[in-house]
Amino acid sequence: MSKTSNRINAMQFSPIRKLAPFADEAKKKGVHVYHLNIGQPDIETPKTFFEGINDYEGKVLKYAGSRGIDELVESFIKYYKGWNVDFKPENIMVTNGGSEAIFMTLFTICDVGDEIIVPAPFYTNYVSFAAEAGVKVVPFITKAEDGFHLPTKEEILAKVNDKTRAIMLSNPGNPTGVVYTKEELRMLGDIAKEKDLYLIADEVYREFVYDGLKYTSLLSFKDLEDRVIVIDSISKRYSACGARIGMAGSLNTEVMGQMMKLAQTRLCVPTIEQFAAANLINTPASYFEETNAEYDRRRNILFDGLKKIPGVICEKPTGAFYIVAKLPVKDAEAFATWMLTDFNKDGKTVMVAPAAGFYGVDGVGLDEVRLSYCLNCDDLADAMKIFAEGIAEYKKIEK
Ligand SMILES: Cc1ncc(COP(=O)(O)O)c(C=O)c1O
Repeated sequence: MSKTSNRINAMQFSPIRKLAPFADEAKKKGVHVYHLNIGQPDIETPKTFFEGINDYEGKVLKYAGSRGIDELVESFIKYYKGWNVDFKPENIMVTNGGSEAIFMTLFTICDVGDEIIVPAPFYTNYVSFAAEAGVKVVPFITKAEDGFHLPTKEEILAKVNDKTRAIMLSNPGNPTGVVYTKEELRMLGDIAKEKDLYLIADEVYREFVYDGLKYTSLLSFKDLEDRVIVIDSISKRYSACGARIGMAGSLNTEVMGQMMKLAQTRLCVPTIEQFAAANLINTPASYFEETNAEYDRRRNILFDGLKKIPGVICEKPTGAFYIVAKLPVKDAEAFATWMLTDFNKDGKTVMVAPAAGFYGVDGVGLDEVRLSYCLNCDDLADAMKIFAEGIAEYKKIEK
């Protein structure tokens, strides 16, 4: 008898963390590893968060309500007013990060065996949340040479069948950094209306948009109000990943009402973190201006560094803090591993995430990697030099 379930056996480990043991080994040998593989921002969490912790005056650390504490729900309502979205408390569910919001959404709108379609490459945990909910992720491919923008309506429609319940997308995109245009989102909205689908809008990187682009949220389409469920989080917006505070939001009160059953089973989200998160609304606008300017500088360093490497193909991303690049190697995972096990330059090396795991389609993206720019400018510039030397060195020995 197998000790664990077929379901858990079928689930994958995170491809982003797959190479971590090799990085640990390299560090044990004294090699400094620049982490361009993960989306853990290094920007300081605003002071408002830590000040908010002091707002908890209780003598007992109580369960919070399952929807979230009033102060946090109200602060999300205020935040969304800034995006011209009129949420009421019943439109909001505070969750343990955007992660739980994704799982709860899938569980609420899909039955076991249902399907969701997702532009690939996508945030790999989508497959795991879907597996938890018994749902199949059906990818449609977007390409580096198109800047990872959406394919034609026909190509997307070809993936829709009787089991399809939703289109899910991250905008700005992780891992691609794509920011979808209003026209692209309109097209998805039209498909959703024609085929009676939900739209799961993962907008956790909403604030990270560059080049003066205007961001369009799926929540801004009045005729899609009943179909859109937004996934949100303070993790990236306020560099507060460890707080584990996110939310699901929808103007469809039937969906949100049913979701409450799930929220009640896990009782609540940590109470003190909610108090802290509620005070983030008082963060000065300058925090976002400075943070965006810093990410923009990093984006330029990373992109310029990649462009200088012969054979690398990538478009400049316009959002989030990632870039997917095609490398002049046959097997990007073998290369990324070798960078950790066999290569260093003056005792330093670079860790990147092989991108094949972001596609969910066998044989696609084998020569691609995702790089994140959650590292200060000087270190990033150094990392890009080492990365370029690594590629040149690897090409000499690649079989
Ligand atoms: C696209 C996307 N959605 C959701 C999440 C979940 O983040 P959290 O659970 O920290 O809110 C992440 C984290 O990296 C992400 O990249």
